[in-house]
Amino acid sequence: MDNRAVVVKLGGSIISESKTKKFSYRGETIASLARAISTSGVDVVVVHGGGAFGHPVAKEYGLSSRSSKPSPEGVSETRRAMFDLNARICDSFMAGGLHPYTFSPFPVLAAAGRKGAKWLEQTIAAGLTPVTFGDVVNVGTGFKILSGDTIALLLSKMLGAERCVFVMDVDGIMGPEGLLRSVEKKDARELKLSPSEDATGGIALKLRDALRMASAGTEVAFVSGFRPAEFSKALKGLSFRGTTVKGPSRE
Ligand code: IPE
Repeated sequence: MDNRAVVVKLGGSIISESKTKKFSYRGETIASLARAISTSGVDVVVVHGGGAFGHPVAKEYGLSSRSSKPSPEGVSETRRAMFDLNARICDSFMAGGLHPYTFSPFPVLAAAGRKGAKWLEQTIAAGLTPVTFGDVVNVGTGFKILSGDTIALLLSKMLGAERCVFVMDVDGIMGPEGLLRSVEKKDARELKLSPSEDATGGIALKLRDALRMASAGTEVAFVSGFRPAEFSKALKGLSFRGTTVKGPSRE
């Protein structure tokens, strides 16, 4: 691929009205983001979160980001909810002019060398948008949730992505005086980020992952999904309303 890809993570907060309002889904919003992707000319790989689909069901059955031994029913039901959400996201993507190709992250991430990246690049070159999601993973000793954020981090690394754009329901990361336009590692320690109750850790973990990504050379952007024009600018690497997470300066 001549252009370096951009990984987009659609967070649960933009997918659903609230994580507790089970199976709520913002179809119009997701379709408007799909339109922004399809008109951007940027090569995109999408990862979506669990929102009001994966999280409430995972919680019901005691699944979390730590390995545990949930009931087989819990594993099936949580995955069932994620596949249901994925089908809805694919519908909205098609309504927005994209041709989604849902893939399981596990074989792609497990592929040796550049094999996984090449497979994604060929899928994009065929006119498709690869889409994957946070999922329940068998870790041998039990099952855990692999969050979409972690998958976005691993895929960004594998692809040598130019940037990773986290889409959420607020403009970006909020500090004591409102929106932070840019965050670096040294600022992160001072930020008091509220712990979250979801199955995979919330904004503090998201920021930790983002800082890791930024130090590996992938710029990270946080933008509101309610502002498709700003999302479009973030995709293209233009200045946008939101937060940019920067790695250590490379000069
Ligand atoms: C969670 O993925 C997936 C499951 C609950 C199975 P994420 O942790 O990425 O989801 P969001 O973005 O917080 O909703």
